Amino acid sequence: MVRKEIRIGYEEYASAGEMSPEDHALCQAAVEALEGSYAPYSHFHVGAAVRLSDGTVVKGANQENAAYPSGLCAERTAMFAAGAAYPGLDIVSIAVVARQDGRICSDPVAPCGACRQVMAQYQTKSGKPMSVILVGADRIMKFARVDDILPLIFDNI
Ligand code: THU
Repeated sequence: MVRKEIRIGYEEYASAGEMSPEDHALCQAAVEALEGSYAPYSHFHVGAAVRLSDGTVVKGANQENAAYPSGLCAERTAMFAAGAAYPGLDIVSIAVVARQDGRICSDPVAPCGACRQVMAQYQTKSGKPMSVILVGADRIMKFARVDDILPLIFDNI
């Protein structure tokens, strides 16, 4: 037996202003996307924004439903909207942010497993890394590729 480790590195920023102009803009778009959140059950509002290979930014927000599982997270709302409207373009980056009780959550929001899997597939489809930016009021985490938040990706496509 050999014991091995998977190590994950990421960049941490104190604020979006420290990031590149395009990442800064994507964080701002994710915050703007919060306005589209429909969360009458959880009152947990999530905004997401994806940047495409030509620079286009597409926003999404969580959409809840009385039949709970019929709702959808902000990340998949944004990715599926981008995939449907711009099928020829790749998703190069996604930013996510959450708001509760009127305030941006201090800790970065962690995408659910299903959203990570969907990110993984769009990354595989593009053949290039998709960066993942998790925005919190106190700190921002930037992962260079989806593998960093979903090790051992299933991408049998
Ligand atoms: N939610 C997201 O939209 N993205 C996440 O990363 C975590 C959870 C939504 C789903 C649901 O509408 C609400 O947050 C509470 O779970």
